[in-house]
Amino acid sequence: MNVGIIGSGTMGSGIAQVAATAGCAVKLYDTNNEALEKAKNSLEKILSRLIEKGRIDDTEKTRIQANIDYTNNLGDLADSDLTIEAIVENLEIKRTVFEHLETYVSEDCIIASNTSSLSIASIASALDKPERCIGIHFFNPAPLMKLVEVIPAVQTSNEILTKTTDIITNWGKTIAVAKDTPGFIVNRVARPFYGEALRIYEEGIADFITIDYSLKSVGGFRMGPFELMDFIGNDINYTVTESVFEAFYYDPRYKPSFTQKRFSEAGYLGRKSGKGYFDYSDGASKPEP
Ligand code: NAI
Repeated sequence: MNVGIIGSGTMGSGIAQVAATAGCAVKLYDTNNEALEKAKNSLEKILSRLIEKGRIDDTEKTRIQANIDYTNNLGDLADSDLTIEAIVENLEIKRTVFEHLETYVSEDCIIASNTSSLSIASIASALDKPERCIGIHFFNPAPLMKLVEVIPAVQTSNEILTKTTDIITNWGKTIAVAKDTPGFIVNRVARPFYGEALRIYEEGIADFITIDYSLKSVGGFRMGPFELMDFIGNDINYTVTESVFEAFYYDPRYKPSFTQKRFSEAGYLGRKSGKGYFDYSDGASKPEP
């Protein structure tokens, strides 16, 4: 099966790895050559680490790598059976890319978005054949996270929904089908989790490390909210909150935080920029109290 991935950042590169591991021929497309190079190098490191841990061997590494072609030409995705878009969380940019994509791919190609918060119906409406559009929402890191939310838009045909769930199940994932509503399931529940943690900090009740420590050591969470926001990327996380807030008609339950906005504006994006709520400049990956 031929799979086209649009956007080779955090999510696109992870989804490409999942599809390539499942035996698909993957074309990973990005407009930014540096992002493509980074995705290639990061896959090399991830697979080498898996070899060190004894999880795969050299043959498997070579097989997975050979299944991925990197390209900065959208037309190279023309023979795709399924495309998954994972570019910036911006409706207009996504709609423009979908319009272009549809001019290249066949009538039967499933066109999916990995959006965290945008309406699949409004993305789908950019297409001449919106019934082939669907949300396929992987979690970060895509190769490790078992859950994938599948979101049919009001336009999506039942046939496309069934085909999509079959494909993603064959990739070893567990599916939750959710209605096309802001944040779907997990991101909707997660908004107040981050938001309340930021408000606790803003009200001077506790600092980042204490809030994280409490939730991890007592609450049983694998990561505290601040460590998790740093992991996801403060910019992406803020944009998703803003979009869910607007989409729920400014319901205060989802109100974004100025602290997070300022951190994003300052470039304190988290692990990817070396600094977020915690400092990662020395290569540290896990802040501890
Ligand atoms: P990212 O910033 O790591 O990567 C985005 C990539 O898209 C970049 O490499 C950029 O060069 C490329 N790009 C931007 N505009 C493009 C265009 N017009 N054509 C082709 N490539 C373009 O972003 P990330 O984190 O991978 O997020 C991508 C999508 O996945 C967003 O919609 C986000 O909401 C969603 N998502 C993100 C998660 C996360 O934890 N980061 C989790 C689940 C979904």
